[in-house]
Amino acid sequence: MSDTGPEGTAPRAASVGRAGPRPAAAGAGQERAGIRLARPDVGEAELAAVADVLATGQLTMGPQVEAFEAGLAHAVGTAEAVAVSSGTAAIHLALLALGIGEGDEVIVPAYTFPATANAVELCRGRAVLVDVDPETFLARPELVAEAVTRRTRAVLAVHLFGRPVEWEELQTAVPQEVVLLEDAAGALGATYRGTSCGALGLMGCLSFHPRKIVTTGEGGAVTTDEAELAGAVRRLRHHGITAGGFDIPAPGLNYRLADVLCALGIPQLERLDALLDARERVAGWYTERLEPLVGTPGASEGDRHGWQAYVVTLDRRDEALAGLRAEGIEAQIGTYAVNRLSAYRDRGAFPGADAAFARALALPFAATLTEDDVDRVTTALARFV
Ligand SMILES: Cc1ncc(COP(=O)(O)O)c(C=O)c1O
Repeated sequence: MSDTGPEGTAPRAASVGRAGPRPAAAGAGQERAGIRLARPDVGEAELAAVADVLATGQLTMGPQVEAFEAGLAHAVGTAEAVAVSSGTAAIHLALLALGIGEGDEVIVPAYTFPATANAVELCRGRAVLVDVDPETFLARPELVAEAVTRRTRAVLAVHLFGRPVEWEELQTAVPQEVVLLEDAAGALGATYRGTSCGALGLMGCLSFHPRKIVTTGEGGAVTTDEAELAGAVRRLRHHGITAGGFDIPAPGLNYRLADVLCALGIPQLERLDALLDARERVAGWYTERLEPLVGTPGASEGDRHGWQAYVVTLDRRDEALAGLRAEGIEAQIGTYAVNRLSAYRDRGAFPGADAAFARALALPFAATLTEDDVDRVTTALARFV
């Protein structure tokens, strides 16, 4: 299984990284190397950090976890960050910490990576799908309002591909007792009106999958200002064992993130601003070229997009996907319409999610992409508009 999928998102088909060394310009008879879907920006600093941990012999439950968590809390602007083994684990534990269980409803966008809905159902709650705007890919607040029932405990707001949710609209759409949680899997670095994604809801859930701005291979975190919730997540990620004790008041899991992986994340976190600037630059090159041709992504005025992925919309998506891949350009679908998956087929009609699923195309995207790479991708894509 390759690691470009979810957020990965789509079927895990394409790969992360560059397909071998590439000539500056391909001459006659010279085959051009492919452009991969994503490439983590890791190098010497990460290698040294990992080597240091290996040398200590303590690969898990050591000091790197705390250091990574402190860096995350600082970056997001929350009092607490708890590192866990994936973004999926972060969502699962946030829901368990809230006590979501049988009979509880949690509102989830119909167009998202399925982990958002799966985590709710695995807590024995019900994922209530709401439709999305097929241009922004975000849940429509008026439909969120309509979906609220007396069983609604929470909304899992997804900043999909790094675009911040219209938070104030969402807040006014639901009664105060409904908890707002963030699936900020792809939104580390993104801001809504100056506040970081991950610090907007009661808890934020981050992912460090290789298509994310900061990667630990696999990894995630729950961010929150609430010490009690952070404590609950810490217990739940470590079998339910109480801090410093030997008791298990309620059963938990092993969702810990190893020290060696936290060490990999720390140098990336330290250059988060630079990584986001670089991704913004690449997104700008794409938008300059593609705005007249296809639907291009962006954030609302005053917000900062997290640029987890660069996802355009077009009618001939399937042809474009096949055409780009035939040229060695690893494009991918955007993400899933959850309502089309067998496990969720009974949840109603979601034309916005269906349209997004049919029309969204993720283009190769990484901080290290060159303007030549972008030219090559956009020239190939222009044939399908
Ligand atoms: C919106 C969204 N939520 C949740 C996840 C799950 O994160 P992970 O792959 O780290 O489990 C992903 C990503 O891959 C995602 O894109």
